[in-house]
Amino acid sequence: MSGRHLAKEQPDSFAFSKAGEKEARYWIAKYPKGKERSAVIPLLWIAQKDNGGWLSEPAMRVVGARLGMAPIRVLEVATFYTMFKLEPVGQHLIQVCGTTPCMLRGSGEIIKVCKKRIGEKGAISADGKFTWEEVECLGACVNAPMVQVSNGSGDHYYEDLDEASMEKLLDDLASGKAVKPGPQNDRYTSEPLGGAQTLSDKALYNGSRAKPLKSIPNAPKAAKKPGKKAAPKTGAKK
Ligand code: FES
Repeated sequence: MSGRHLAKEQPDSFAFSKAGEKEARYWIAKYPKGKERSAVIPLLWIAQKDNGGWLSEPAMRVVGARLGMAPIRVLEVATFYTMFKLEPVGQHLIQVCGTTPCMLRGSGEIIKVCKKRIGEKGAISADGKFTWEEVECLGACVNAPMVQVSNGSGDHYYEDLDEASMEKLLDDLASGKAVKPGPQNDRYTSEPLGGAQTLSDKALYNGSRAKPLKSIPNAPKAAKKPGKKAAPKTGAKK
């Protein structure tokens, strides 16, 4: 799966789903006439989602035909970006971040679980449910270690994993149970474990510390009202 070449076995055809077709039109309409090929990446992405998570050769041809691009130009894009899978994948594609912060926080354990439960990197599990691969930083380092799971319902991050929570994640996905994305421990988003420890004083947010403004800083000064002219001084020294 990880090679950047087309799969040996290819389906005969590809067609966008109804929803995919609608989305494809949306993206094409974003670009001026004659520049439709700028939509090649979104269209390939939609085609990949419509094709069970990978891009077949017929799918690339369909995308090329829609955008007026030669098939080789579409192939160049699809083979360059590793977000496009060129061979079939399992129902859930697990991308394990293996970059330094995740590695230091235990991505090795996550990979071990993937190997044990799914098989070798890039392989489809025996039940057809999973494929896993190692990827570079996915930008959620503060919640390391983490994985991204791509499937029919989208692409979601699962964070703060350890061996047990990764096993559970795979169990839940395999049984079709709803799995809540985000941290898999008690952490709320990227707050410290146990909750926020700074800026937690409610008075900071309820307005009780606000003092009425006497004037608005930097506001233009009000023009002075025209007053009476001062009377000329008398008794001036000669
Ligand atoms: S290093 Fe894993 S998300 Fe950044």
